[in-house]
Amino acid sequence: MVNYKELGLVNSREIFKKAFAGKYAIPAFNFNNMEQMQAIVQACVETKSPVILQVSSGARQYANQTLLRYMAQGAVEYAKELGYNIPIVLHLDHGNSFELCKDCIEMGFSSVMIDGSHFPYDENVELTRRVVEYAHQYDITVEGELGVLAGIEDDVAAEHHTYTQPDEVEDFVKKTGVDSLAISIGTSHGANKFTPEQCTRNADGILIPPPLRFDILEEVEKRIPGFPIVLHGASSVPQDLVATINKYGGALKDAVGIPEDQLRRAATSAVCKINIDSDGRLAMTAAVREVLATQPAEFDPRKYLGPARDKLRELYKHKILHVLGSNDKA
Ligand code: G3H
Ligand code: 13P
Ligand code: ZN
Repeated sequence: MVNYKELGLVNSREIFKKAFAGKYAIPAFNFNNMEQMQAIVQACVETKSPVILQVSSGARQYANQTLLRYMAQGAVEYAKELGYNIPIVLHLDHGNSFELCKDCIEMGFSSVMIDGSHFPYDENVELTRRVVEYAHQYDITVEGELGVLAGIEDDVAAEHHTYTQPDEVEDFVKKTGVDSLAISIGTSHGANKFTPEQCTRNADGILIPPPLRFDILEEVEKRIPGFPIVLHGASSVPQDLVATINKYGGALKDAVGIPEDQLRRAATSAVCKINIDSDGRLAMTAAVREVLATQPAEFDPRKYLGPARDKLRELYKHKILHVLGSNDKA
């Protein structure tokens, strides 16, 4: 059993408390490789922001779980070397079983998500409660989920959002003992969050997605005052990145995300954690495509992964400074 505190990591309790009081949100960025981890740490140190490093089960399979854990440990040392000791959480994203959560807890994660949102309510409660009971013995924080996002989660559940029912949240939080709750208010995973039919078009023909359901968020806030809320599927799908990808041979069609002003508004509410993965993928892909297309003789991976890392760092800094407001909160 590895204790995350010995690795220099923190759980999410204190940073969520401060985020709630200070009306900002902590960035939760996914990572699968060294360049992503470097970009995250550089951006967060340069802006003095706390950060949640997220590992999905796909990331564990891709990169090897042991390597990822040591990379997160390395992130703590790397931040110090860059000159600022920021709070770093190592978090399991979308844990789908008790065993996976237990594995991560034993490996040194400081926080886990148990995503029982696809199960019937009572099963979600029971699974989440079991993970919380285990995790809390080691002072590890747990995120649960109520409601189903469209997008990646589609293949398990419905085609459309199943919005969180505010009537369920108080009972869920009380019965499970979770530390934070992910809710569904219209965000969605991936780069194609909405079909063109779900959107309207502005005068320039740009797709405008349907607004987030702030009414549901406000109802949730009333039922569980002061409780930290999490937004998944919160990439904005910057259209300049989509255009660069398509200019240099990509084929992203109708890619559309959550407008930044809506996320900014969410960050000032009970939303204490905002998950961003797809925007980072777009930034890296745009940079790699541009280098490979404009410098066809280049074959040193550092020559395209380096620019990809730089673009990613700038994207993360933008999110922290202009969307989440977590700068200078470390
Ligand atoms: O919510 C999903 C995250 O973006 C992780 O994606 O499962 O492809 O690593 P992944
Ligand atoms: P995006 O696909 O919108 O970046 O969401 C990421 C996420 O929710 C990770 O859990
Ligand atoms: Zn997610």
